[in-house]
Amino acid sequence: MRVVRSIKQLREALEYMRQGGHTPIGFVPTMGYLHEGHASLLRRAGEMSNTVVMSIFVNPLQFGPNEDYDSYPRDEERDLELAEREGVDIVFIPSVEEMYPQPTRTTVSVSELTTRLCGASRPGHFNGVTTVVNKLFNIVQPDYAFFGLKDAQQVAVLRRMVSDLNMNVEIVPCPIVREGDGLALSSRNVFLSPEERSQALVLSRSLREARQSIEEGKVTTVAEVRELLTSVISNSPLAVIDYAEILTFPNLEGLENEVLLTDVNGEIIIALAVKFGRTRLIDNNVFIPK
Ligand code: PAJ
Repeated sequence: MRVVRSIKQLREALEYMRQGGHTPIGFVPTMGYLHEGHASLLRRAGEMSNTVVMSIFVNPLQFGPNEDYDSYPRDEERDLELAEREGVDIVFIPSVEEMYPQPTRTTVSVSELTTRLCGASRPGHFNGVTTVVNKLFNIVQPDYAFFGLKDAQQVAVLRRMVSDLNMNVEIVPCPIVREGDGLALSSRNVFLSPEERSQALVLSRSLREARQSIEEGKVTTVAEVRELLTSVISNSPLAVIDYAEILTFPNLEGLENEVLLTDVNGEIIIALAVKFGRTRLIDNNVFIPK
């Protein structure tokens, strides 16, 4: 496994791989502090590619001024051990200066899909994501890029960017990896106190209950699903709901309160963002209601 920190070094290493015929190239962008969720993307990348590139870069552009950029957890040594174990060929760890040597005057921005959910509560966040992912795609030029459905809106936004801009890369969405008790893995879970950690189960539990109630025909409208979610979540006194929404997927279009879920064509997403103290957790479920 090679660790490279400059764009020039990375391009040279990739050129060598391409010339040796070690293609396709699979790419897994991350912000580090890796866990089993990231590992699952690396394994999928390994199955589909002959060269696996992973980046570790905590991207300042996607954090708001009052968000956790400075305190975002970092542990390069442990990340490199995990990457090695998962068979990564090249790890790219650029500094902020390497990625942004001058103030950015060019940003990539996807409209509409970024106005709801995390886009509404984190203004500018998705412009930061699409801009850095665009830069990383230009640097790596991967055949496949792997993203977790844990961040389903990110997947929808990036797929739209690739399609709108005719980018020559296939976005491969990967399933959400959870702890045994249902909590979706997240680098931010380390910030939870034991009490918050136990109450955080309310995200996956409410999503499970909502999906089950829809499938059993116990709830039929968008308004009823939203009520079910908020009533389950309000049983956890430490939980503060940021959003609990039901939208179409992957276009992320809103659905009126009285819409019958069985009338929706294609997939829906039930998406949650819930705060526990200063820690904001997200989770979702994407499925075809029937
Ligand atoms: P980060 O939060 O480190 O996540 C990197 C990738 O791991 C994302 O595609 C994310 O969806 C996936 N992931 C995280 N937790 C997961 C889980 N429990 N199950 C499955 N996949 C999971 O997302 C980012 O970084 C950044 O926005 C980035 C794309 C790197 C751009 O800066």
